[in-house]
Amino acid sequence: MVIGLADAISLENISFSYSSSPKKILDGITLRIAKGGFVGVVGGTGAGKSTLLYCMNGVIPHLVGGRMEGSVSLLGKDTRKNGPSSLAKSAGIVFQDPDSQIFALSVREEVEFGLSNLGVNGQERTSRVEQALAETGLSGLEDENPRELSAGQRQKVAIASVLAMDPEVLLLDEPVSSLDWRSARDIYELLKGLNQKGKTIVIVEHNTEWLADYADRIVGIANGGITLDGKAEEILADERLEKLGLKVPCAVQISCELGLGECAHTPRQLVRILRGVK
Ligand SMILES: Nc1ncnc2c1ncn2[C@@H]1O[C@H](COP(=O)(O)OP(=O)(O)O)[C@@H](O)[C@H]1O
Ligand SMILES: [Mg+2]
Repeated sequence: MVIGLADAISLENISFSYSSSPKKILDGITLRIAKGGFVGVVGGTGAGKSTLLYCMNGVIPHLVGGRMEGSVSLLGKDTRKNGPSSLAKSAGIVFQDPDSQIFALSVREEVEFGLSNLGVNGQERTSRVEQALAETGLSGLEDENPRELSAGQRQKVAIASVLAMDPEVLLLDEPVSSLDWRSARDIYELLKGLNQKGKTIVIVEHNTEWLADYADRIVGIANGGITLDGKAEEILADERLEKLGLKVPCAVQISCELGLGECAHTPRQLVRILRGVK
């Protein structure tokens, strides 16, 4: 496999079927994600978005049973030879269901756990836990049992645990689905800041308004393959988006309805176009 130096993740002809059925959920996917990208993964329910994410850090084939063909390189490391825990500094994953990754009896312990595994202890560990909790709006909840928190707060605990480990690549599976708008925006702003510092973000997201504001590239999957891939502003204006079960962002719809020559994908851009400001 030829790996570009600028690739964070490179999937080469990946096919995967779960052990319970021979059906190929992913069927010959080749995808390169550049370092420093902010990539949204979209597709209908059951399209294989989570499965695709699991392939990026070795959850597949190491922790999930099934048959994987092809190869994946994460920051130059072959995921067949390196499992998710040995790749934890390279990529952190926030699962769609936070409960699948939460097991400690306090929020502090939960966020500390990954750091201890990386050999980070003492003051360094304490300050990284504090920072991750502050960034996710969880300060003050250190001693709470994560199981007794709301779904949105548990989602934040899962995000904090990954942030604390400071991985190069963040893989997030619908991480704001149970958060209110303000908390979701705060998470996206946090991701934007991390991305500006050079982290690569790959995020599964149904809400195209978030992708319009934050993603630079969108990859759409259906029937085991990639059906859409391009710059966010182009994909968000592509009518095929609706075939994937996604809503075209409001600003795009309004630009089309008004017959504006230019297509805005955020409300701010729409206002600029309407005012004739570049
Ligand atoms: N652990 C599993 N065992 C068997 N089939 C699974 C498993 N996880 C997901 N699937 C199946 O794989 C397909 C893709 O699932 P998934 O990747 O979760 O889709 P998405 O995230 O796009 O909703 C679905 O048909 C789902 O039923
Ligand atoms: Mg999913």
